[in-house]
Amino acid sequence: MKTKILTTEEKDIREAAKIIAKGGLVAFPTETVYGLGANALDADAVAKVYEAKGRPSDNPMIVHIARASDIGQLTPMLSEDIVMLIDNFWPGPLTMVLRKKAGIPDRTTGGLDTVAVRMPDNEAALRLITLADCPIAAPSANISGSPSPTRAKDVIADMDGKIDAIIESEDCRVGIESTVVDMTGDVPTILRPGIITAENIEAALDKEVRYDEALLRGAELTGIDPQLAAEGEGAAADGVNGTAGGAAGADESGVAEGFRPKSPGMKSKHYAPKAQMTIIEGRRDKVKSEIERLKALNERLGLKVGVILFEEKAFIEAAHDFFSKLRDLDNEGVDLILAGAMSDRDGVGFAVMNRMLKSAGYNIARV
Ligand code: TXA
Ligand code: MG
Repeated sequence: MKTKILTTEEKDIREAAKIIAKGGLVAFPTETVYGLGANALDADAVAKVYEAKGRPSDNPMIVHIARASDIGQLTPMLSEDIVMLIDNFWPGPLTMVLRKKAGIPDRTTGGLDTVAVRMPDNEAALRLITLADCPIAAPSANISGSPSPTRAKDVIADMDGKIDAIIESEDCRVGIESTVVDMTGDVPTILRPGIITAENIEAALDKEVRYDEALLRGAELTGIDPQLAAEGEGAAADGVNGTAGGAAGADESGVAEGFRPKSPGMKSKHYAPKAQMTIIEGRRDKVKSEIERLKALNERLGLKVGVILFEEKAFIEAAHDFFSKLRDLDNEGVDLILAGAMSDRDGVGFAVMNRMLKSAGYNIARV
């Protein structure tokens, strides 16, 4: 298939919208990462997204809308909390899991009785949805299992020849995917952390927000207790039981065997670079010197080593740069990536660590 490269000009977005309306696939920019879009109400179109990504078809998609009032097509009832979150965070990097209305294809929601919805904060994306005149289902526009694309060139690298068109735009502002919060239970529950933190949501709702158990399980490995972080308390940095090299009794995703995460996306290995990757966690000075030591050791034996070490408190920048760094290092052909853990209890740092852990297959060494 020949993939058309389009711009964010009105005539190009019109063309892209026509492709979507006819059941085709278009990659488009959002503020978080690039998405791979199809008409969310067209089961055949959605099936093609799974095919292009090579994604397991039980993994549900996020449905993107351009006006808050379009939410009524997707869910039968809005609670006060849902409306508060819309008012506070849309358009923006917050996805809500809601009860699903009949008529949304099972293909879109992976057969679940819920649907994930968000309104992206990107002009081209909003225009595309409006002109296509349908909600757009869009996972990240990468081949399943590889780092999410935050630049047009990353989308082209993964999707050229597999989809109808790509809308090229600037690099994504946020750099990690939206926060996913499940609003179907009594307590709002974060299924995927992002730059809108539990604390932000708690402040908007004036009530407690939880993290899904699968996230806490992953976080145990890092010494970060996001639940305590959300409550504004400091968690004990030490006294963490995990050992270097991954958690015992967990599968490759770090999720305990027999545990069924609510968000199917949590269970599969994600964001993996081609290189072997190890996270070094501990006091900043020790992390630095351990990375230097391992780098020198491996380079002496002929391996090409890449390093990811963000400024200590620069969580927003880390979120912005993480996926593109992974891709750059892969393109340079490194054999090994050594990454310094973001070991602060800030919610954004936790969201970056969530991606870092998955990328490294939960391979973490403590110093
Ligand atoms: O920022 C984003 O959210 C990007 C851009 C393109 O909008 N999209 C994105 O989509 O990250 P994707 O498919 O890569 O991730 C969607 C996540 C997955 O972890 C999936 O399991 C979860 O949302 N999800 C989708 N629908 C769900 C549902 N009904 N219940 C629980 N989790 C759901
Ligand atoms: Mg994805």
